[in-house]
Amino acid sequence: MNALHPPTAQSAVALTLRNRIARAFGRSAGSYDKHADLQRQVADCLLAMLPVNVHSARILDLGCGTGYCSARLRQRFPASSVLALDLALPMLTVAARQLNAEADQAAANVQMLCADAQALPLKSNSVDLLVSSLALQWCSDPVAVFAGIRRVLRPGGIALVSTMGPATLQALREAWAAVDADSHGNEFLPASQLQQAAATAGLQMQLQRDVVVRHYSSLLALAHEMKALGANVVTSATNALTTPAAFKAAAAAFARLRQQDGIPVEWEIYFLILRKPMESGPP
Ligand SMILES: C[S@@+](CC[C@H](N)C(=O)[O-])C[C@H]1O[C@@H](n2cnc3c(N)ncnc32)[C@H](O)[C@@H]1O
Repeated sequence: MNALHPPTAQSAVALTLRNRIARAFGRSAGSYDKHADLQRQVADCLLAMLPVNVHSARILDLGCGTGYCSARLRQRFPASSVLALDLALPMLTVAARQLNAEADQAAANVQMLCADAQALPLKSNSVDLLVSSLALQWCSDPVAVFAGIRRVLRPGGIALVSTMGPATLQALREAWAAVDADSHGNEFLPASQLQQAAATAGLQMQLQRDVVVRHYSSLLALAHEMKALGANVVTSATNALTTPAAFKAAAAAFARLRQQDGIPVEWEIYFLILRKPMESGPP
């Protein structure tokens, strides 16, 4: 701890949360790929938004996880260098192993960096293209993420970012609302706040929205999937401990939403195209 700048209560909470998120994703590094169907679908849609003749010598995959986007970016831009960055070291270990196994001699190198997207340890104007799929919703300070993106992008550079919107996991929140008033599911920022954060950071933003519905057999099945993905950290400051009796009651409420194909759960996905203006002074 720095005696001159002791952490505020708020920054100490953010640090603890960041550590919990890093630990949860770190623990899931070995199981992530087997459960990441939605994440693959979203990443593929995001990568399909890449402009056709974009010039990208230096590419950053922010919150790379097991390296799915990095591998595709390396294929698409074989002469470029890709930097795969993640908060969770075990994710980078898996990514490095898989990328090395896939590597062909002509492919560009992928470098790994364990760091926080909210405090990018990279030079200003050093990135031509940034891709970040489903990591932003884990960052408590989206303005810091956008400010970092703007700083590291070269003028005219673009960032493609996918994240989750507020309708995500509404069925889970509804099931728990029948049990208690605590927060058991994460809240996601609305488009207006993302728009505002981008404008504050000095980035131009276009947003597209999509909704993916997946069906589950039970609340337990959903909880298992989230744990295997590392997505089981509740980010709200008011989250409560879950007793077996409370979980049983929530599972019963969740089961009442059952339809023919199972219990439907929505994920609201935002796809953001962020541009750093050519003529850009300080934000
Ligand atoms: C849902 S996974 C997505 C991984 C990958 N982009 C994909 O599409 O499969 C979210 C990733 O974001 C990382 N992450 C969460 N918070 C982060 C932060 N503050 N800085 C960097 N990475 C972060 C997690 O460790 C995890 O690997």
